[in-house]
Amino acid sequence: MISLNVNGKVHKLDVDQDMILLWALRDHLDLKGTKYACGIGECGTCTVLIDGKAVRSCTITVGEIKRKKITTIEGLPENHPVKQAWIKEQVPQCGYCQPGVIMQVTAHLSQKPTPNANQVISKMDDVLCRCGTYPYIKQGIKTAIQIMRKDGKS
Ligand code: FES
Ligand code: FES
Repeated sequence: MISLNVNGKVHKLDVDQDMILLWALRDHLDLKGTKYACGIGECGTCTVLIDGKAVRSCTITVGEIKRKKITTIEGLPENHPVKQAWIKEQVPQCGYCQPGVIMQVTAHLSQKPTPNANQVISKMDDVLCRCGTYPYIKQGIKTAIQIMRKDGKS
C-alpha cells in the first residue's frame, strides 16, 4: 500500500512501489488531465509539480515520492494566473500538451523572485507541442506575469 498526497488529499493506493506516477494518477486516481506522450521524459506533456518543482511523471515511480506533495493540472485553481492567461490568450490548439506546459510554466513562475518573461520563455525549449503553439505559449507567459503583478503575487 502506498500513500500519495495529491492535490492536497492523501490517497492510499494498492499499487507496487515501482508503478510509474503517471499511471497511478491516471489509472488509479482518475486524474486524466496529465497526459502520456513520449513516455521517456523527453516531451514534457506529463509534467506535474512535486513539492512545487516540475517533474515528468512518466519518469518517476510512486515509491520515490512518498510524503511529497504532488500537484496536477486539476489541483491548480481556476483563478490561477497561468490558467487565466491561457484562457485569455487562447493558447491551446488540440490541447493535448497544455496541462504539462501549464505545470512547467507554473513551476518557473513560482520561483522567487519571479523570473521575467524572457527567462521563463528560454527555459521552455524542451517542452514539445505538436500543434506548434509556441508563439501563444510565449504570449501566455507574458500575460500570466502581468496578471501576477496586478494581483500582487510577484
Ligand atoms: S510523456 Fe513524459 S516526458 Fe513525454
Ligand atoms: S496544443 Fe496540440 S500538442 Fe500542443
